[in-house]
Amino acid sequence: MIISNLKLVNFRNYENLDLHLSSGINVFIGENGTGKTNLVEAINFMTIGKSYRANDDKEIIKFKEEFARIHLEFETSRKEVLEAVISNQGKQIFRNDIKLTKLSELSGILLNVLFTPDDVLLFKDSPMERRKLIDMNLSSLYRLYMNDLVQYKNLLKQRNAMLKEKEVNRGYIEVITEQMIPFEYQIFKVRKKFIEEIDSKINEIFKNIDDSPSKLKIIYKSSLDEEDDPTDFKEAARSKYEMSLEDDIRRGSTSYGVHKDDFLMLLGGKNVATYASQGQNRLASLSLKLTLVKWIKEKTNQDPIIILDDVLSELDENHQNNLINELSSYSQVFITCAKDDIKKEDVNYYVVEENKVYRRN
Ligand SMILES: Nc1ncnc2c1ncn2[C@@H]1O[C@H](COP(=O)(O)OP(=O)(O)OP(=O)(O)O)[C@@H](O)[C@H]1O
Ligand SMILES: [Mg+2]
Repeated sequence: MIISNLKLVNFRNYENLDLHLSSGINVFIGENGTGKTNLVEAINFMTIGKSYRANDDKEIIKFKEEFARIHLEFETSRKEVLEAVISNQGKQIFRNDIKLTKLSELSGILLNVLFTPDDVLLFKDSPMERRKLIDMNLSSLYRLYMNDLVQYKNLLKQRNAMLKEKEVNRGYIEVITEQMIPFEYQIFKVRKKFIEEIDSKINEIFKNIDDSPSKLKIIYKSSLDEEDDPTDFKEAARSKYEMSLEDDIRRGSTSYGVHKDDFLMLLGGKNVATYASQGQNRLASLSLKLTLVKWIKEKTNQDPIIILDDVLSELDENHQNNLINELSSYSQVFITCAKDDIKKEDVNYYVVEENKVYRRN
């Protein structure tokens, strides 16, 4: 898929922007604070219907203005238009001029994999960040997974609420736990397959970016026993819940379950989070994101849009060149960069300055 046009009205520092975009690599160059990340934030907004960096939608409305509008045209096998209008009264999202009733209707329409400067911390961060990545990707593709997850989280909430009661009703806990386990099995199965598929592909990408012979390995870490057989899985889960019940009551929360799942990244057999350098963390995280692009492409037959915010200048020249070469094979890539240090033909350069963006070549 290719975004051909982005129009912004009162979005962050942009009062009125009308930007034509091309396929291939698009680089936004500009000094700090000129509005490069704001551009990619606007693009990403249309994939999930919210900003990945604002806690409140209203933050994206230009100071002193009443509303913001994002208008984005993109092409797959046909032309599509997505539009969002954000005001103090809330937000409205339109697909081809038809108003969406739920944000989830946006799922799977504009596919995008985003790499932000914070992603260098992906493996060092808390497991919650890694679960978020898994869940976001799986939910955007599989409605059933999203549904299982919602049901599971509701039950977990009820279980935890009961665990905090003065008089814990053990019979009630048992009933809730019994209902949780089938959802957990579904979630576990999908996550496990996902991690295995990513693991089988990641080194194809990593070897193009890094010249070392070391290999990446991604490992699923479930807090439940990783039994593939549904009966064995359920039995094992049941006994874990039984054994930890008194402990759970003391803590007032559930210590086992898919809400505790995680994944590990190894480089040359060593944990990236604890042993790898900052640069290696960045390369591992980048490789994971680009593998996700391949994975989404395989599942949907669509080429997701890649966004890399502020990544290049942190890499040495060799890794930078490798990455740019690797990116040449994707349909559309957006890169933001404060320094003008990408030297490559057939790249589209845009200069970002004073709330304006203009094409340089
Ligand atoms: N709601 C808003 N209204 C007006 N301006 C805003 C709003 N929110 C943020 N800005 C401005 O946007 C600018 C930051 O833009 P952005 O984060 O895109 O910069 P950047 O080019 O990515 O910078 P860096 O290179 O440092 O990452 C700041 O000058 C900030 O004041
Ligand atoms: Mg930025």
